[in-house]
Amino acid sequence: MSSSVTNRIVQCSIATASGGETNYPAKFQPPSFSTVTFRSDRSNDHASSEVSSSSRRGLMCSIATLPCLLPLTHIFGSLRANANAMLPPGGDEYVRIKEELKKVLSKGKAAGVLRLVFHDAGTFEIDHDAGGMNGSIVYELERPENAGLKKSVKVLQKAKTQIDAIHPVSWADVIAVAGAEAIEVCGGPTIQVSLGRHDSLGADPEGKLPEETLDASGLKRCFQKKGFSTQELVALSGAHTLGSKGFGSPTSFDNSYYKVLLEKPPTPSGGMSTMIGLPSDHALVEDDECLRWIKKYADDENMFFEDFKNAYVKLVNSGVKWSSL
Ligand code: HEM
Repeated sequence: MSSSVTNRIVQCSIATASGGETNYPAKFQPPSFSTVTFRSDRSNDHASSEVSSSSRRGLMCSIATLPCLLPLTHIFGSLRANANAMLPPGGDEYVRIKEELKKVLSKGKAAGVLRLVFHDAGTFEIDHDAGGMNGSIVYELERPENAGLKKSVKVLQKAKTQIDAIHPVSWADVIAVAGAEAIEVCGGPTIQVSLGRHDSLGADPEGKLPEETLDASGLKRCFQKKGFSTQELVALSGAHTLGSKGFGSPTSFDNSYYKVLLEKPPTPSGGMSTMIGLPSDHALVEDDECLRWIKKYADDENMFFEDFKNAYVKLVNSGVKWSSL
């Protein structure tokens, strides 16, 4: 693994199971605890505002716009969490977060929680210095593309409340660890992620998630803007093996996604859906470069697990402002 620093962007690289190297950007900025930035969701017709933490009037106004999902303890809890250093996985705090998440996560809830990870982190774009894994999803639940995710946030809220009671944790960290836990609970690889993500205090820009109608070049372009290669696009899309789109058992994290995509015509193997997959899933098969990866992952589940693991870690580090930097 190597790293270099250019203009506030850290470029890191990780070896993939398939022998390649994958580069990813991790935005960072120096800690700034004296100023609190509140950005309200433009889709709700609220104006954006920046207030200093000493400005009580601005603070109260902005708090009034926060979703009722967020009691004050969580707002201030998340702020205090920013005083933590970026922690490698495996420490006491990590274990405690995992334990609380295990209590609320079941196989049936795993798909929604994993989708939540993508919808939080997937707003990141390298060039716009915005979005990413910052917990902003809790402000974006009314957006059409996030339909159905409210219940996943509510599931995690229970665990977060318990964790916050002992040591506050950011939403971004909870969601990142929860997605990994969801994968593991469904029989996928064990994934460990670092802690110390800084929570955003408002919504991310809209229109950054890929639409399901995109063709392969549109999907590649969209993921490229977020720092992901074609191989990573194909590996991450394997998350659609969870859920009821017909790629094997809805609660088993395995390589059925790729196997079913290669069937002609694809047939549902989980008995849950008559229409298999999304248009974007089928678009991948039409592209030669994507097809090569689909075949590799269909043949070799271990390679899929390893490459998914690396791409997942990169996803949950997208655009992160680490507390220690
Ligand atoms: C490649 C571009 C992607 C597109 C266009 C896309 C779009 C969608 C759509 C439209 C759904 C169906 C939602 C519903 O049934 O209401 C879905 C489900 C899902 N997505 Fe994606 N997605 C993409 C990539 C990803 C990635 C990268 C992940 C995670 C790493 C992910 C995780 C999931 C999961 C787990 C589900 C099933 C949710 C459930 O059944 O509750 N998706 N996606």
